[in-house]
Amino acid sequence: MKSNTRDRILEVFKKSFETNNLHKVKLSGYESPEEDLKAVIIKPVLIKDTKVLQYVHSYATRDVTKNKELKDGLDHLEEMLSSFNNFSMVTTEHVYQWNSKTSRLFKSANSQAVKTNQDHDKQKKYMLDQQSPYLKELGITNASGNIIGSKSHKFKQINKYIEIMDSVLSSADLSDPVRIHDAGSGKGYLTFALYDYLKNTKDRKVEVTGIELRKELVEKCNALAETCKYTSLKFIEGGIADQEAIEAEVLLALHACDTATDDAIALGIKSNASVIVCSPCCHKQIRKQLSKGTQGSISPLLKYGIIKERQAEIITDVIRSLLLEAHGYKTKVMEFISSEHTPKNLLIVAVKSKSLQDSTNKLQEVQNIKKEFGIEYHYLEKALKTI
Ligand SMILES: C[S@@+](CC[C@H](N)C(=O)[O-])C[C@H]1O[C@@H](n2cnc3c(N)ncnc32)[C@H](O)[C@@H]1O
Repeated sequence: MKSNTRDRILEVFKKSFETNNLHKVKLSGYESPEEDLKAVIIKPVLIKDTKVLQYVHSYATRDVTKNKELKDGLDHLEEMLSSFNNFSMVTTEHVYQWNSKTSRLFKSANSQAVKTNQDHDKQKKYMLDQQSPYLKELGITNASGNIIGSKSHKFKQINKYIEIMDSVLSSADLSDPVRIHDAGSGKGYLTFALYDYLKNTKDRKVEVTGIELRKELVEKCNALAETCKYTSLKFIEGGIADQEAIEAEVLLALHACDTATDDAIALGIKSNASVIVCSPCCHKQIRKQLSKGTQGSISPLLKYGIIKERQAEIITDVIRSLLLEAHGYKTKVMEFISSEHTPKNLLIVAVKSKSLQDSTNKLQEVQNIKKEFGIEYHYLEKALKTI
């Protein structure tokens, strides 16, 4: 590589990094035959709020990752430029390409640049307050309140959830303060977000309780609630099914594992909750029973593993929805967030209805489905003790 090309690359690389415009650098076509080095990818990353350069050296069977500050990173890039045959660098506005055959540095407009700007504009419409302290403590934003690149999907997911919850809770008849229980609260992303949104953005009186099996998560979340001065947010340790004394007005369960979703729905129904919202996770309980139903006309529906798995998910969630309706809820099933972000994207939203529902009919529909697919029982039936 000619020295003026090399200097130009280093100059653009440095400037793009400093102005937050550097996306990615790729070097390939390593010249040394002794090493099985396939490519090196360089990206800016945030490590504990400090921006550094991440170098991933990809060998035939392993990757080696090293983080470097700008000065060392520039030295390392300069060294590598003399031993690779192909170089490309993507910045917000441009794409730079060089290879040893043409030996010229080509610069073209980055066709993704418009999209990047659009994404940036969209951020203004997000419902979450990016400056809220819990987002920083949970590692979603940095000290300046900017979303950390690798967490942008999580941030969008939380926003979408808040958008849905805002609309569901606005249309329900709830007390003041509204009492919300989040069953299987985990690290508390959604619990904190909902609390902060209702309390600090909507100025609503709320009491939010996370229920979680794992002691260390409960301790962390309670400590974080204290740091953020979220006085009516607390987390309790325990199993969802063991919560006899709880009176949930709004019962949430997001990605609670397998039958923990049923325990949460049962807790909501037993508490006569006005709103029950759940996003099911894995669906093992019904899947196991489907194996017995591989006779007769429906057997082709269960022939292929992946299709069978999806059937199990559909049957599990349809029965959940029917049982909710049998207990007086108007139920909707919707997509929580695009499947591009997570396959666990179904949301069951149930709001207690003031008008009487035809429960016999709904229970009969459950029995019909079970008979058709050779299902002995759905865990939610047991949790509700309706059988
Ligand atoms: C996949 S995480 C989801 C966390 C959170 N709801 C979210 O969507 O980010 C599921 C959490 O539920 C908890 N969990 C599973 N079964 C539970 C049960 N029966 N009672 C209480 N917590 C449970 C797990 O320990 C885990 O932290």
